Amino acid sequence: MLPERVKDILKAKVTGTLLWDEPMKKHTTFGIGGPADVLVSPRDESDLQQILSISHEYDTPVTIIGNGSNLLVADEGIDGIVATLSNRLNNISVQEDRLMAGAGCQLARLTRVAADAGLTGLEFAVGIPGTVGGAVVMNAGTREGSIADVVTTVRAISHDGQIVELDKKALEFGYRESILQRKSFIVVAVEMKLRPGDANEIEARMRSNQAWRKETQPIHLRTAGSIFKNPPGDYAGRLIEFSGCKGMSVGDAQVSDLHGNFIVNRGRATANDIRELMEMIVAQVSDKFGIQLEPEIQIVGRRA
Ligand code: EPU
Repeated sequence: MLPERVKDILKAKVTGTLLWDEPMKKHTTFGIGGPADVLVSPRDESDLQQILSISHEYDTPVTIIGNGSNLLVADEGIDGIVATLSNRLNNISVQEDRLMAGAGCQLARLTRVAADAGLTGLEFAVGIPGTVGGAVVMNAGTREGSIADVVTTVRAISHDGQIVELDKKALEFGYRESILQRKSFIVVAVEMKLRPGDANEIEARMRSNQAWRKETQPIHLRTAGSIFKNPPGDYAGRLIEFSGCKGMSVGDAQVSDLHGNFIVNRGRATANDIRELMEMIVAQVSDKFGIQLEPEIQIVGRRA
């Protein structure tokens, strides 16, 4: 529960929208998650700065989310302030081979803008259902490449409201990793360097990536994308399939028949169902192959 004085200060100072006790299941692709004390959509960068300063000053936790497409939110909800950048801070501009994008813009839109400008380097991202900010934090990618391949600089706000610029080296990108998962910076804008390319080839690569995704992943069902990271030299999906986990379920949470590294919410799955199913998968893969799978999704919220 937020103290009344924090509620009052948020109402007085935040210009974006505030939703009180907002069910997070409405804001995650899994369709799972209890209430956030308050879900804020900041109007712009200075509004976000304001929210972070309030959180700092009043010692109230703040959780930043993008599209909620790589997220498991606890059934008990999230303490404090949740700020969603989805479709906020979403300007895109192109200058020669450079692309500047706000953290809240959709990767889908960004890949379209790059293709229309005849720039190559982002075709891998077609069909990734996240925001640019989320993609940078997670170093989102596929076998074709990842966002780290094109990012040059990130503009971020520290948790006490200061603006900082981080270059690629400072971001410490790794496989599905960046320093942004460990240090309290909130991405507000990203600069990328692409290369001039052949428009037909760019379109063809985007079409083929999208078709591949549609064929191999349950993209129309409620999931959070890949659940586990691929371990070095192998694939979580293969290990899960060949340890006999496909189709396994807990409540309405089920391992996808199409792709072993996806869990589908068939209707009323809870975060606990997902967690329990994840534990069963980890145990079964470990028994069969001696490999410990690690979550790729971000797990947030109150612990029961
Ligand atoms: N495989 C199986 N059984 C399965 C699923 C996969 O044997 O049930 C095998 C495939 O045959 C293939 C290998 O595992 O040989 C890898 O599968 P896939 O090509 O589907 O790629 P992935 O490694 O499972 C990665 C990303 C996806 C991205 C695809 C597209 C990770 C954790 N996942 O999946 O990203 O869309 O490549 O190339 O790196 C996401 O991050 O949310 C995501 C969906």
